[in-house]
Amino acid sequence: MERLTWGMIGGGEGSQIGPAHRLGSAVDGEFSFAAAALDHRPDAGRAYARSLGIAGDRAYGDWKEMLAGESGRADRVDLVTVATPNATHFGIARAFLEAGFDVLVEKPMTITVEEAETLVRLSRETGRICAVNYGYTGYPLVRQMRGMVARGDLGQVRLVMATFAHGHHADAADADNPRVRWRYDPATAGISAQFADCGIHALHMASFVTGQEVERLSADLASCVPGRVLEDDALVAFRMNGGAVGRLWTSSVAVGRQHGLELQVYGERGGLAWAQEQPNQLRWTPLGERTQIVERGDAGMLPEAAAASRVTVGHAEGMPLAFANIYRDLARAIRARKAGEPAPPALYPTAEDGLRSMAAIAAVAASGQAEGVWLDARPPMFR
Ligand code: NAI
Repeated sequence: MERLTWGMIGGGEGSQIGPAHRLGSAVDGEFSFAAAALDHRPDAGRAYARSLGIAGDRAYGDWKEMLAGESGRADRVDLVTVATPNATHFGIARAFLEAGFDVLVEKPMTITVEEAETLVRLSRETGRICAVNYGYTGYPLVRQMRGMVARGDLGQVRLVMATFAHGHHADAADADNPRVRWRYDPATAGISAQFADCGIHALHMASFVTGQEVERLSADLASCVPGRVLEDDALVAFRMNGGAVGRLWTSSVAVGRQHGLELQVYGERGGLAWAQEQPNQLRWTPLGERTQIVERGDAGMLPEAAAASRVTVGHAEGMPLAFANIYRDLARAIRARKAGEPAPPALYPTAEDGLRSMAAIAAVAASGQAEGVWLDARPPMFR
């Protein structure tokens, strides 16, 4: 089977998320890495792309050069990943969608709800994929949780507790570090810092696993490090359209916590608990029984979870392989379209998911400013 080709914008040398995309896209041999504009400094981007094996004429200085170069090629890249700081996502994704490329955009998909609506419309009009990288939904045991909820193992879901609290931006002396600064600067991050950076992963996972969408929310925001305009800690209460009650805590000042993404789902007949730092074990407690550990790779996993698992039980499987599942889902969708076949069921997060997050961010920011007033968190487009 011929490989698809892949291009990347952002994710340059030393970036946080670039390596996980390069690993994830390469695992299954679905994509070959063919073009890139990796850095905001053109020369550094070109040099790093060359060092990663990209041909000189496809190691671009910036995304506009890449758009022009790739648009003019018969063998243009099949998928473009946008892994730049948030404020640039919309302009880049819109331009590539308009030119007929499929795109995978890092979260948050855009800065405003209106921009996100534009990407949803564009994706629908062009028939091109606009996916959003909620990459943790690629974990086998996250897909197991989703399948168990859908199968009815928990009965009606009553309560979801979503957490994404780390301690890596707690040091006031580090506030000027360029990789930290853009996250708290409204010009580059938008109206929210920590909730938009991490909280939306947890909120999206709550929806992904329960199959319910967030309807209303109330937020309590705090800026713990002096001088920060945007929040570095948030507590959000929410309600979902299937009746589930939601609680979410996100923080970047919880010293000692590392990654800190966790999801707990409690239903009438049992409870599930999973944590990103121990992704190969899922705790399942049926009502009135002892807690069981579901091991990734063990017999009896649901088919969608087993299909997402790559190595045998007992061996560590981690985050780049979760990203690999998103890339494999995208490869299948792109191949189906190229073959004129119907799209396979999609587990990758879509532009609609990205839009829902943007509406939640807007509601969190507004509620936080209004002392926690409850607000509609649905995108106007879906009300
Ligand atoms: P970073 O600051 O570590 O790296 C950003 C990279 O983008 C740098 O290499 C920089 O030179 C490059 N860049 C900046 N502007 C550019 C432009 N106009 N054209 C080309 N390259 C450009 O940032 P990080 O942490 O890697 O975040 C990037 C994006 O990924 C953000 O949107 C962030 O929210 C998201 N992210 C997602 C994660 C996930 O788990 N899905 C985890 C971490 C970040």
